[in-house]
Amino acid sequence: MTIYIETDRLILRDWDEEDLLPFQQMNANQQVRRFFPSLLSYRRSELDMQKMDEIIKEHGIGLFAVELKETGGWLGFIGLNYISENSKYSFEELPFYEIGWRLIPEVWGNGIASEGAEAVLDYAATHGIEEVYSLTAEQNVSSIKVMEKINMQLYDHFEYPELSNYNPLKKHVRYYKKLNK
Ligand SMILES: CC(C)(COP(=O)(O)OP(=O)(O)OC[C@H]1O[C@@H](n2cnc3c(N)ncnc32)[C@H](O)[C@@H]1OP(=O)(O)O)[C@@H](O)C(=O)NCCC(=O)NCCS
Repeated sequence: MTIYIETDRLILRDWDEEDLLPFQQMNANQQVRRFFPSLLSYRRSELDMQKMDEIIKEHGIGLFAVELKETGGWLGFIGLNYISENSKYSFEELPFYEIGWRLIPEVWGNGIASEGAEAVLDYAATHGIEEVYSLTAEQNVSSIKVMEKINMQLYDHFEYPELSNYNPLKKHVRYYKKLNK
């Protein structure tokens, strides 16, 4: 296990085999996936976890597994996702880094996402990343709160690709932050 970031309460690290089952359960939870188009199958979660781990090991930055220091318990992930020019999005600014978070419901509302995300922004700045975006559905108030708590600014509204115009999750927001070198 390699630790990349440490905060008062959290360890952000690469992924471990033992993270797989809680990660699969989190991604199959209706409450967690409320603002996403679908639940994720256990197989899809397994592939996603492998990919996140490979990216961290190769680039030293990515979507980190989050562990509570005090208990060693697995809480979810917080980190950066590289959105390439070939992505499903049609933004002019591609490629860019997106900061994102997904935590188990048991720990929501304790400032965990904000604490981890703040540390990820510092880490990103020391790794030469100059700007970061964050994307979410307009209804995802808690995620938007995290963006605001880490001093990101509303950048624009956009329509999420691959969803019908009638889908209530179609309308998304994009937040932005320029990082200090
Ligand atoms: C988004 C998420 C990571 C936030 O994690 P968290 O650790 O609870 O975040 P924080 O405690 O740092 O901040 C959340 C803020 O939203 C508030 N909040 C939570 N639910 C809310 C709601 N339904 N309405 C209004 N505010 C809400 C919290 O009170 C807190 O604000 P405060 O610090 O001013 O009290 C977590 O809710 C989650 O994993 N959601 C499911 C996955 C997801 O949607 N990820 C983001 C996709 S872009």
